Amino acid sequence: MAGLVGLVAGALWAMLPAYVPNNAAVLAGGGAPIDGGRTWGGRRLLGDGKTWRGTAVGTAVGVALAFGLNAVADPVGALADVALPTFPPSAALGLALGAMLGDIGASFLKRRTGRERGAAFPGLDQLDFVVGALALAFVFAPGWTLATFSPARVAVVLVATPLLHVATNGVAYLLGVKNEPW
Ligand code: CTP
Ligand code: MG
Repeated sequence: MAGLVGLVAGALWAMLPAYVPNNAAVLAGGGAPIDGGRTWGGRRLLGDGKTWRGTAVGTAVGVALAFGLNAVADPVGALADVALPTFPPSAALGLALGAMLGDIGASFLKRRTGRERGAAFPGLDQLDFVVGALALAFVFAPGWTLATFSPARVAVVLVATPLLHVATNGVAYLLGVKNEPW
C-alpha cells in the first residue's frame, strides 16, 4: 500500500508542472491569437482559443510551480515517507511548454477535422498535454525524463490524468471560468 501511495504521489508530483499551465492559460487567455487569424483549407489554423498571452503565462506558471515544488519536495515527501522528484530548469521548461504545445497541437488537429473552437475531442482533450509535456521534457532533459518517468509512473499518469482533467475542467466550468466542461 505504501508502495502504491508513493508511486501515485511521485507520478502526479512529477506531472504537476505540466498540469497547471493549461489551467493558468484559461485564466490568463485573451489577446492576439497565435495563428494571427490565418486559415488553412477554409478553417482557422489554431483558432482564437490559442493565444500568445495564455501560452506565455501558462508556461511561466508551470516553470514557477516546478521551482516551488523543488523547494518543498523534501519536507512534503518526508510527511508521507516518499521520495518526490525535483525539476532541473530544462525539465521544468520542457514539461510546462510541452503541455502548452500539446494542447496547441490538439487544436490544430481539431480544426483540420472540422471541429470549431471549444468542440470536444474525447481522448485527445485529456492526453494531448501529457504527450506534449513528456516529449518536450525528453528533448530538453532526456536523462532526467527517463529516470523520472518510469514505466509504472507513466502508467499511473495515463490513467489518472484523464480523471483529473475531467474533474478540474468540470469545476472550472461550474465556477464560470471555462466555457465548456472539457
Ligand atoms: N488559452 C489561451 N492560450 C492557450 C490555451 C488556452 O489563451 N495556449 C485560453 C483561451 O482563452 C481558451 C481557454 O484558455 O479559450 C480554454 O482553453 P482550451 O479549452 O484549450 O481552448 P478552446 O477555447 O476550447 O479552443 P480549442 O477548441 O482550440 O481547444
Ligand atoms: Mg476547449
